[in-house]
Amino acid sequence: MVTTRTELQWTRVAALSDVAPGEAKGVRLADGRSIALFNVDGRIYATDNQCPHMGYPLTRGAVRHGILTCDWHGRSFDLEGGGCFNYECDDLQTFPVDVRQDQIWIQLGDAKYKRRDEHLRLLWEGLLSEDRWTISKAIALLLKGGVPEKRIVEMVLRHLGRHIASSHDADEGGAVSRLINGLKVGRRYGDADRLMVLATAARSVAGKAAERLEVVPLPSPVEWDSIAGWTRMFSHDSQSERIERCLFTAYHLHHQDKILPLLYECAVEPRFLGFAENLLSLGHLAEIIESFGWEQSSELVFNLGAKLIGRRRGEPERFRRDAVGVMTSMVPITEALHVSTNPVVHYDEDAFVTALLSANIQKSFDGVAAVLNAGVKLDRLITTLVLLSADRMARTPVNVDAGWGALTTELNLAASLRIAERQGGDRIAAKELFHAAWQIFANRWLNIPVRPLTAPLGGEKLDVPSEDAGVQLILKSIASLNVKDVGRQVLEYLNAGYPGNRLLHEMGRAMIWDDTNTQVLPTLSTVFEEWERSGGSDPALGGGHPARYQLLVGLARYATDIRTNKDRVSSTNTAMHFAEGKTTVDVFEE
Ligand code: FES
Repeated sequence: MVTTRTELQWTRVAALSDVAPGEAKGVRLADGRSIALFNVDGRIYATDNQCPHMGYPLTRGAVRHGILTCDWHGRSFDLEGGGCFNYECDDLQTFPVDVRQDQIWIQLGDAKYKRRDEHLRLLWEGLLSEDRWTISKAIALLLKGGVPEKRIVEMVLRHLGRHIASSHDADEGGAVSRLINGLKVGRRYGDADRLMVLATAARSVAGKAAERLEVVPLPSPVEWDSIAGWTRMFSHDSQSERIERCLFTAYHLHHQDKILPLLYECAVEPRFLGFAENLLSLGHLAEIIESFGWEQSSELVFNLGAKLIGRRRGEPERFRRDAVGVMTSMVPITEALHVSTNPVVHYDEDAFVTALLSANIQKSFDGVAAVLNAGVKLDRLITTLVLLSADRMARTPVNVDAGWGALTTELNLAASLRIAERQGGDRIAAKELFHAAWQIFANRWLNIPVRPLTAPLGGEKLDVPSEDAGVQLILKSIASLNVKDVGRQVLEYLNAGYPGNRLLHEMGRAMIWDDTNTQVLPTLSTVFEEWERSGGSDPALGGGHPARYQLLVGLARYATDIRTNKDRVSSTNTAMHFAEGKTTVDVFEE
């Protein structure tokens, strides 16, 4: 380590004799930074020793015609000014040098972070080129530089809006889900875990984003009633482009508060039975607006929203055609309801569940109509659907095809009814109940035995000396892909009286560091929220419900069964060390 004497920000870093002509030397400053000194044609140059690409020590690079080329991936820099000649690599920091009495002095300047714009541009570049490393590195550097997470996410969100708007696919809703759920899960963690989730979420929405013509509002005069009527008609006729212009006009005319309810109104129509993704994506768009406001989200919401409710549906197969007919005949029931005043919380939940699992769509929808007519509170019904799906995840046989995709859609759709209720109102949520019931019907191929949801779960108590030992045992099962035991262990852990919050937090951490993290994020996010919601005493939200433990049991089994244990997430780890200024430089210096 170099001992330095500082004089007006000038720091003495080496003797001239330490750097032989044509050679380079690395010196370590008191603050831990590694500086590279080059003696080229009798002149001394000083740069950061960490290559801005992936941290390789630049003292190992080659200098030719004033250009320094890193020896690892060949990125080149102007040795004097630091400018980089390649993509996906920011400029190199260089320092003024003065040689006085055979001593080398460099001017470090203040340590204030000044590269925010450069790193935001780097993030944008990484998102466009889908380069995992560049995205992780840019986020790590921005966070290290104190740039607020919100600013970083806004950039990712802007990219996502562009990316979706320039693709022709309505199934891009998955990217929105990964982003919003990643953010929600990330908020529950700190430091490396949080960076991991943020980088995962950002990487999962990367992709091409072409320029497109700006959508302009319809010329005036246009009234809201016309916009709403046209949107309904275009949704019926699968004309998404026309819907986008309607939505944009509504926003321009300051009707933004009416846009989500209108999108929901179209999406819960019987013709969209079987399009669970529509409702899930609308829920995510709603959450994005709630978190970031209209200005940041409008392009994304109008474009994706229009694609969702204006999608082509194709000819329905026989079961779906029947279901559309049955639901259509029941719409008047939902229209006549005053559900917000529905007070009933205690109802025959097992009868409702039996109807939903009857594998008969008429019985299933009759069951929904019956509980609505009986005045059961919507929150209570949503809780039933959430816990029913969790219970099925906790018990699905894993020997052949556990049906995780189908089951997690069931769970996440059920939970997203809460957003539909919040954003669209009770009647919208009541209609969405039929869509959730359809989803369960569509999953009738799953070989899960039927059981009363209100029956106690039973089971032993986990025989461990402490909460910590129990958590470690379960984490070990997850890591070793022991799906046979992990569900039982989680149940026994909870039976032993340990609160689940710590276990859930630790299980979540294990999941976000696995390379299935992108896949798990939406369900992890749902379980976090539903576990919290049902932790109180309100029975409408699941407080005291005997099936509540199944939320954690189902999640543990799911994450363990899909786990791959392939380590492809290390780029985030490396990026974090990179942002700290320690990567390969340290390795080579040691
Ligand atoms: S080019 Fe320097 S680390 Fe990749």
